[in-house]
Amino acid sequence: MLLKGKVAVVTGAGSGIGEAIARLFASEGAKIVLGDLAQSAGVLAEELAAAGSTAVFQRADVVDEVSVAALMEAAVRRFGRLDILVANAGIPERKSPIHELDLAEWRRVIDVDLTGVAICNKFAAGAMLKTGGGAIVNMASILAHVGQENSNAYSAAKAAVVNLTRSVALTYARQGIRANCVSPGYVDTPLLAKLPEATRQMMLVRQPIGRLARPEEIAEVVAFLASDRASIITGACINADGGYTAI
Ligand SMILES: NC(=O)c1ccc[n+]([C@@H]2O[C@H](COP(=O)([O-])OP(=O)(O)OC[C@H]3O[C@@H](n4cnc5c(N)ncnc54)[C@H](O)[C@@H]3O)[C@@H](O)[C@H]2O)c1
Repeated sequence: MLLKGKVAVVTGAGSGIGEAIARLFASEGAKIVLGDLAQSAGVLAEELAAAGSTAVFQRADVVDEVSVAALMEAAVRRFGRLDILVANAGIPERKSPIHELDLAEWRRVIDVDLTGVAICNKFAAGAMLKTGGGAIVNMASILAHVGQENSNAYSAAKAAVVNLTRSVALTYARQGIRANCVSPGYVDTPLLAKLPEATRQMMLVRQPIGRLARPEEIAEVVAFLASDRASIITGACINADGGYTAI
């Protein structure tokens, strides 16, 4: 059991990659607080608990400081400490050429995909400092590393998450907190299902391995980075992208 006894908060745990992370963490022995706006995370927490895991749901909006503070407090109150944060919650954007940029859309995506990660890191680091450290894993994207036509706020937010993670890693390097991020390629989740079929086909063509990733494959990378086996890794970003960024 890779994460036996570890206390973890996973945001965006109600769907897709976050759901796969919560399921894997449960099977690896972690005590989990599933944070999400969506009630589906509550249903998942009940399912995991019924199967013998330790899992609770805390409704949380990652853009709201009060809500995120309560999320981290829920872990400390229920389980006495916080060992792991997975800042996974994120939203896609309505793409457009930059000359048609809708500033409301820009702000909505930056808010969730960048500011939300910063707020989660803020309250998780605060909790971890009280108990001698922990591991933070932030969810980035291949679009943090390569450009893509008509991708604006999402690409900017994800690139910023990578560098924010490096700064967090350096800030707490001697205080026992490791911070890393994972950059998935195209993963078969409800987020992708919301995109037009032509876009999905374009994604398949661009994937060197010829298929989309499964959410479970991303969860494995997150679990490793969150575990003590990754004790020497901090400030890193692991591309889990089927070779997309190798081209
Ligand atoms: N699916 C992909 O191909 C892909 C690729 C690269 C990166 N990612 C990133 O992985 C992460 C998860 O993506 P996914 O595909 O599983 O998406 P998803 O849409 O399946 O799940 C996202 C979850 O986040 C929750 N969420 C959204 N806004 C929130 C908020 N403000 N507060 C709390 N929860 C909120 C949603 O309710 C949902 O349960 C995102 O950060 C995404 O950008 C996904």
